[in-house]
Amino acid sequence: MTTAKIVISPEEPIAIINPNIQGHFAEHLGGCIYDGIWVGEESTIPNIDGIRTDVVEALRRLRPPVVRWPGGCFADDYHWRDGIGPRAERPRRVNLWWGETIESNAFGTHEFLRFCNLIGAQPYICGNVGSGSPRELRDWVEYCNFPGESTLALERGANGSPEPFGVQYWGVGNENWGCGGSFCPEDYGAEYKRFATYLRGFGDTPLYLIACGPSGNNPDWTRRFFDKLGRFARINGFAAHYYCRTAGTATEYSTDQWYELLHRALRMEPLVVQQRAILDGYDPERKIGLIVDEWGTWHPPTPGRHPRHLWQQNTLRDALVAAMTLDIFQRHADKVVMANIAQTINVLQAMILTDGPRMLTTPTYHVYDMYQTHQGGQSLRTRFEADEIVFSLEGNAARLPGLSGSASIKDGILTLTVVNAHATSAIEADVALRQGAWSGGSVITLTDDDIHAYNTFEAPDALVPVEAPSEVHGAQFRHTFPPASVTAFRLRVA
Ligand code: AHR
Repeated sequence: MTTAKIVISPEEPIAIINPNIQGHFAEHLGGCIYDGIWVGEESTIPNIDGIRTDVVEALRRLRPPVVRWPGGCFADDYHWRDGIGPRAERPRRVNLWWGETIESNAFGTHEFLRFCNLIGAQPYICGNVGSGSPRELRDWVEYCNFPGESTLALERGANGSPEPFGVQYWGVGNENWGCGGSFCPEDYGAEYKRFATYLRGFGDTPLYLIACGPSGNNPDWTRRFFDKLGRFARINGFAAHYYCRTAGTATEYSTDQWYELLHRALRMEPLVVQQRAILDGYDPERKIGLIVDEWGTWHPPTPGRHPRHLWQQNTLRDALVAAMTLDIFQRHADKVVMANIAQTINVLQAMILTDGPRMLTTPTYHVYDMYQTHQGGQSLRTRFEADEIVFSLEGNAARLPGLSGSASIKDGILTLTVVNAHATSAIEADVALRQGAWSGGSVITLTDDDIHAYNTFEAPDALVPVEAPSEVHGAQFRHTFPPASVTAFRLRVA
């Protein structure tokens, strides 16, 4: 094998990486909200106003920029008034999409905004288009944001929050091609205009309105939606969804299935490039931000768990999917303004798993921790040259880059993140900086001899990153990237 090359070009800045690219998503689904975030003030599990203290502390560490809530499919069957006022009087509803679980509404608008405040994230509320009305959604905005003395603002005060919440990000429906109303793009375009017409910024809070984009990289939805939208300008973001459906199960997979899932993760790159190119045709000045507000791995139901609660383990393979996807967003910092991994706790590609009073952080969590210094950095053009991995996909030979990653610089610190997707081979690479020089820093590595490694409640630190000082000086160094690894360098640059 030849020595691989990584060449970083500070003279080719791409764009500032929007911190919102490392955003989150929490839905009323399975154990995400109840047990995962909300245990109630009476719980023996330590909590702050009903919200788990351990979860707050773990999430705060990641500097989460934004959390999307309450769904997902749940959003288009959620009526916000159910979740305000005295908890004992809130109605109990059936969660239609997620196992017909009884929704107590104990966690509503105030609780969500308290949670965001505790973890230091901006809220992103997804409104109900499918079974709601423009009036219901405009009232929710007024309830949250109006600074004056309207009946809704006074009601917010009576419910404990006299100051406006200042919620900026509002989604106008979720997956409106499916669970959000089964619309065709033209009908959703018409509904979007009807709803958005009545959504207004109040006080110091301008609204950032987000329209539902396609399932995956579907150009048809995007073109037909924007054709229908015409010159209507009350739109700030357009959000696609993309999930990597499993090869194998969450914890059991062959080496080819390891590669297959990583290969699927790479489909995010054409999605971002092609969807942005279509948007550019309608919005050449890029006033409308491309968002991916649901993404992640989606494995088959875990035996012994409710199949509609989407609980799944999270292995080293998921960590590599997270790393490769964040690297794609960071390489395309000029195109992507926000992304929200699905979902924060106990659902799909979670950061955190809980079991009663116990909590663990997943390998995906550790990737977010390792990548946090990219937030707000200047993304730099970076070339990765390594032998491709050839593997068997449905009987044919398929290829995957051996090394991939991204680089950014902020406050004199260069962050370089690199994935070695090879299941068994280390890759030695020369890492070069085309302008300036390094003067030491640190290197953090997440890897394991077993590509199936994951954390359990009995061994919550089985798979954690290892940090070491890095003594690299000058403009070039050689590094060996272990097989199946994610590496983050944080190096001072002069
Ligand atoms: O994240 C789980 C579900 O996936 C969401 O509710 C929905 O929007 C998507 O289909």
